[in-house]
Amino acid sequence: MVNRLIRSLAVAASVLLLGPSERLANVRAQAPPQGKAAPPEQAGAAPAGRVETGATLYKKVGCFMCHSNEAQGGANGPRLGPDPILFARFVQYVRNPSGDMPPYTGKVLSDQDLADIYAFLKARPRPPAVGAIPSLAP
Ligand code: HEC
Repeated sequence: MVNRLIRSLAVAASVLLLGPSERLANVRAQAPPQGKAAPPEQAGAAPAGRVETGATLYKKVGCFMCHSNEAQGGANGPRLGPDPILFARFVQYVRNPSGDMPPYTGKVLSDQDLADIYAFLKARPRPPAVGAIPSLAP
């Protein structure tokens, strides 16, 4: 009970005080629901998605404006690929974001659309290792 209160105060404080990246850390820190084993989809396995369709949707509905063309993130939103959060949490967040991101309802993006966008995110190229960039190499 007290724990719940402290937790909601912490969430409220983070909404008021923290910037997008710190809020993001909070989003990630929230553990998935405990209890009996989740069905495969909720356990993180994404339904089959089409990368090309996802790429089109990602541009069409404006994800790129905050998360950048290759989902690498930027000043207005964090990196989303190539290692997105679990699919169930991805869907939950896009439908009910807690920070500066606008919500996308099922009218705008169906679950299949989200699976396609998710496939696109997973297919993004991995950034080069720091040591492979001459001006950043030790
Ligand atoms: C207006 C800017 C904006 C747009 C448009 C936007 N986002 Fe975001 N998104 C953010 C910001 C900022 C965050 C960081 C948390 C927050 O403030 O909501 C975020 C967080 C996320 C997260 C959580 C990331 C994580 O690692 O926990 C996901 C997933 C996400 N966005 C997906 C999407 C998708 C998919 C779209 C398009 C359908 C989209 N976003 C469109 C700004 C945006």
